[in-house]
This record gives sequence, structure tokens and C-alpha cells, in this order.
Amino acid sequence: MIRDPNDLQRYTASERANHWVVGICFILLGLSGLALFHPALFPLTQLFGGGVWTRILHPFIGVVMMLFFVVMFFRFQRLNHMSPTDWEWVRRAREMVNGDDHTMPEMGKYNGGQKLLFWFLGLSMLVLFASGIVIWRAYFSQYFPIGVIRIGALAHAAFGALMIIAIIVHVYAALWVRGTIRAMLYGTVTRAWAKQHHRAWYRQMTGK
Ligand code: HEM
Repeated sequence: MIRDPNDLQRYTASERANHWVVGICFILLGLSGLALFHPALFPLTQLFGGGVWTRILHPFIGVVMMLFFVVMFFRFQRLNHMSPTDWEWVRRAREMVNGDDHTMPEMGKYNGGQKLLFWFLGLSMLVLFASGIVIWRAYFSQYFPIGVIRIGALAHAAFGALMIIAIIVHVYAALWVRGTIRAMLYGTVTRAWAKQHHRAWYRQMTGK
């Protein structure tokens, strides 16, 4: 059942909408970015109305993603500070991946892995945005020397690839831990889910 009165609220509608605008922009940017990255992937430009349109649209979608990401970043950053318990969780994550999560330290709303990913995504967005401005030929590249534009292009491609890998990990983890996706779809999670994966948050929410 999707809605049970006992479920715990994890995200508001506005937080979910914010996240999904970022998610949709990411998919569009990934597809258009890959299309511009290598000739073998050029056919992907068909999705955006051809090569010229792909090149025009990609940076504007990037700006939209950055704006919504900044809002999401400031909404969630307070909940993503690493504590010593989070570092212990990260050190022992292998035990959990191997199927034994019974002795893992209790986690608050987010675990150490989610928190590290959060900061990595923040760094990636910063580098992608700054380098994207430098290599945006139509408006900004004329203000930068060619050496800076070259470094910008390299940084943009490298962090684009790293961010694609990071989001694959993010989505895989959300699917792997059953009952997580619904948190971002409907805003709620079951008490059993919270107790198993984020026990300190469960205690905080229920007072138990
Ligand atoms: C496109 C497919 C995506 C899916 C299916 C997805 C799924 C999810 C789910 C299920 C959660 C809830 C996890 C939980 O409450 O424990 C979540 C949280 C989150 N997602 Fe995504 N996501 C996607 C893309 C993205 C992108 C592109 C970004 C950022 C660039 C992002 C950033 C976040 C952040 C910041 C959180 C909150 C976790 C935290 O603050 O540590 N997501 N996502």
C-alpha cells in the first residue's frame, strides 16, 4: 500500500518537485552532453532537434539545473554534515553490502555514503557550472584566454563523466534499498524502512 497513516513523512511536495526538476535536467544534460562529447554518440542530437539545437539547449538546461540545485543544496546541506558515526558507517559499508547490516551504526536521516555523495554532487555542480560558463562560446568564451578555455573543456568533460557515475550509484542505491524510491515519489516511507536503515531518524520522528 502506498499510503498508510503510520508512514513517516520524509519529503514535502516542494522538496520532491525540486529534486525531480534537477533529476530531469540531469537526464537531458547527460544525453545532450554525451551527444556533443563523441561523434559515435552524435545521433543522440536527434532527441533535441539536431546538432545546432543540442548545442544551444545544453547550456541553458545547465543553468536551470544549477538554479534548482542551489535551492536543493541549501535545503539539505544542514542534514548532510559528517559526524564520527557517519565515518564509521563509511568504513564498515562493505559489511552492509555483503548483506550483514545488523551491527552497523545507527544512522540519522542520511547515512555516511549519502552525505559524501551529497558533497561530491555539490563540488561537481560547481565545477560544471564554472567551466560551462568558460566554454559557452556564444556569450562568455571571448572573455577568457584559450588556455583557460582548454582547461575548462577538460574539467567539464571530466566532471560530467564523474557526475554520471555518481548519479548511477545514487539511483542504483535508491533501487537496491527497497522502499526508498517511494520517498521521492510520494514523500513517505514505512516505519519498518526507517527503523532498518535510518534508526536514529526513526527515533527522532516517533520518539521511540
Ligand atoms: C535521475 C534519477 C534520480 C533518482 C531516481 C533519484 C532518487 C532519489 C531518491 C529515492 C532519494 C531519497 C533517498 C532517501 O531519502 O534516503 C533521493 C535523494 C536525493 N537526491 Fe536523487 N535521484 C535522482 C537524481 C538526482 C540528481 C541528478 C541529483 C543531484 C544532482 C540528486 C540529488 C539528491 C539529493 C541531494 C537527495 C537528498 C539526499 C541527501 O541530501 O543526501 N538526485 N534521490
